[in-house]
Amino acid sequence: MATALDRLSYAVRQTARVAWYAGHYAAGRRLLKPMPKPDFAIGPTPSRAELTADMRALFEREWQDIAAGLFPAPRALGPEPAEFLRRSLLYFRDLPQVDARRHGAAGDELPPGTQADGLPDYYRQNFHFQSDGWLSDNSAALYDTQVEVLFTGAADAMRRRALAPITAWLQGRNQREVRGLDVGCGTGRLLASLHGAWPGMKLTGIDLSAPYLEEARRLIGRTARVKLEEAAAEALPFDDASLDLVVSSFLLHELPNQIRMQVLAEVARVLKPGGLVVIVDSLQKGDRPEWDGLLDLFPHYFHEPYYADYVSGSMEAWCSDAGLSPVSMERAFLSRVTVARKS
Ligand SMILES: C[S@@+](CC[C@H](N)C(=O)[O-])C[C@H]1O[C@@H](n2cnc3c(N)ncnc32)[C@H](O)[C@@H]1O
Repeated sequence: MATALDRLSYAVRQTARVAWYAGHYAAGRRLLKPMPKPDFAIGPTPSRAELTADMRALFEREWQDIAAGLFPAPRALGPEPAEFLRRSLLYFRDLPQVDARRHGAAGDELPPGTQADGLPDYYRQNFHFQSDGWLSDNSAALYDTQVEVLFTGAADAMRRRALAPITAWLQGRNQREVRGLDVGCGTGRLLASLHGAWPGMKLTGIDLSAPYLEEARRLIGRTARVKLEEAAAEALPFDDASLDLVVSSFLLHELPNQIRMQVLAEVARVLKPGGLVVIVDSLQKGDRPEWDGLLDLFPHYFHEPYYADYVSGSMEAWCSDAGLSPVSMERAFLSRVTVARKS
């Protein structure tokens, strides 16, 4: 039973996160050279007040779920205060390089030594203009700060919206018998939340980036319950119908259309009948028509080669094409949580 003190502790922690990352966002805007306005038509955009109200509503929904006992309040995830500060410094030191790329430098430079390691071409790019793409320890150390700054402290809360549909599906199941997978787990933020909520589940995270997987291991710690494996989402290293649960956050918008469809087909292949899929990713056009302009603007300001294609598609249609039955969708601030089942 959640107490008033639990509520206060949740509110203080989330408010502190938002203030910290919103401060980075505001400072970053002062340091960055303004980008030229887009020379193409964009849809409607929300006001700052509307965005803030919606972000508040996201935290309120999470708190209501915690208070209702659906899942525990999130543990503080992440580095100690000194490391937190070091990452903040790393972030600001890297900003000039990011800004130079935004203003015209190529988006496919990669760190030395990783040119011929067999990774797919679509993957070997500086997504978001970030230094080293997905391919260095430095990038892995910067990533969480970059994402939280972009979402002003709400990125983890958006990922955690995956927990509510999992709770509902878990009714009558023993978590210790559930085998789950996070596809494109990156630095392990969603995996860590799943492990925190259901420590008995046998989880695996796969990703193509060894440095991101190392970062995920540091975050989650050594535990036999969470395996991390270097693998491609489009060729999952699992037998047919061998998993109960598949989650993924912020992967699908980074993939070319054909690879995205292969990934969803792989998810359908490895799931057991009755298995659950929960995908957290960007809103798509029409999810909030009055915000569509944000989806037009995002790839203009960040290197997101496949985003326009992603936002003009339909997660529900893609799931159906892959043999997964869409069950529900929640709009969670700037993301959508798509829930589907393998029949
Ligand atoms: C935007 S990040 C999302 C990471 C994490 N899920 C999160 O919520 O922050 C995309 C991740 O997908 C990984 N990735 C991209 N393409 C992949 C592929 N084909 N197979 C496996 N991982 C991939 C990248 O290495 C990166 O860690």
